[in-house]
Amino acid sequence: MKYNNLLIEIKEHTAVVTVNRPDKLNALNADTINDLEGAFTELKNKDDVFVIILTGSGEKAFVAGADISELSTLDVLGAKQFSDRGNSVFEFIENLDKPVIAAVNGFALGGGCELALACHIRVSGENAKFGQPEVNLGLIPGYGGTQRLARTVNSARALEYILTGDMINAEEAFRIGLVNRVYPQTELMNKTFELADKIAGKGQQAVRLALKSVRATHQMALTQGLKYEASLFALVCGTEDFKEGTMAFLEKRKPDFKNK
Ligand code: COA
Repeated sequence: MKYNNLLIEIKEHTAVVTVNRPDKLNALNADTINDLEGAFTELKNKDDVFVIILTGSGEKAFVAGADISELSTLDVLGAKQFSDRGNSVFEFIENLDKPVIAAVNGFALGGGCELALACHIRVSGENAKFGQPEVNLGLIPGYGGTQRLARTVNSARALEYILTGDMINAEEAFRIGLVNRVYPQTELMNKTFELADKIAGKGQQAVRLALKSVRATHQMALTQGLKYEASLFALVCGTEDFKEGTMAFLEKRKPDFKNK
């Protein structure tokens, strides 16, 4: 499918979704939010896509936020719909049963930071700058920033960033656990592909159930989460991949996963 503001490229089992409004630093307008929903729905349904990388077009930005020209026209009812819409698309991404890696190649501000936070793994270039600068516009984050940033770093740090609107550079983002890895800008995509390939080479039943189980930490208390993990562990032990993975180890060979 064609999208107005997104590019999709598929290489082997990895799809790259690129937000493509470089002249507006890939700011998320309503059209782009619709495109994201369409693209992630399309990729969810593609059986041969195992991992998705999300990045931004151009040298400067991952996504520099929600589109401020659209934001500026919102009234109270419109703002509620705006926020609900973004949250529902970002939750769709977060709840996908395929790993989504944000390759943050520049500014990830406001909705851009929130979009990266909805991804399962974040890596960045050395030039990345994260932040929730909504307070500078007389706003608060509306696409999940108050919730996911506080869960990803800690609430005191999240509050500092949200209350000051200060930007977080790549080094600090790494130090506080906002990104897993930082690469020189020129190596970012190659290194992200390496990570995606590594995950794509595992048994995908296990990858999907592990993703589901870790994600449950957001929704469940520990006792409930442990029970949930046990039920998914039982499920994965019924797969062909489990039999192949353990047999291959015992036979001292590489597993040949069929993702069944
Ligand atoms: N919404 C709409 N347009 C945006 C945008 C946004 N969030 N962020 C950048 N743009 C546009 C600019 O208006 C400019 O468009 P123009 O050339 O038509 O005037 C273009 O992208 C380039 O941005 P510019 O500000 O000239 O680049 P810069 O390198 O000087 O500054 C930023 C980069 C990211 C610091 C700056 O663009 C910025 O502060 N953006 C807003 C960030 C923000 O507040 N995001 C949260 C929104 S809730």
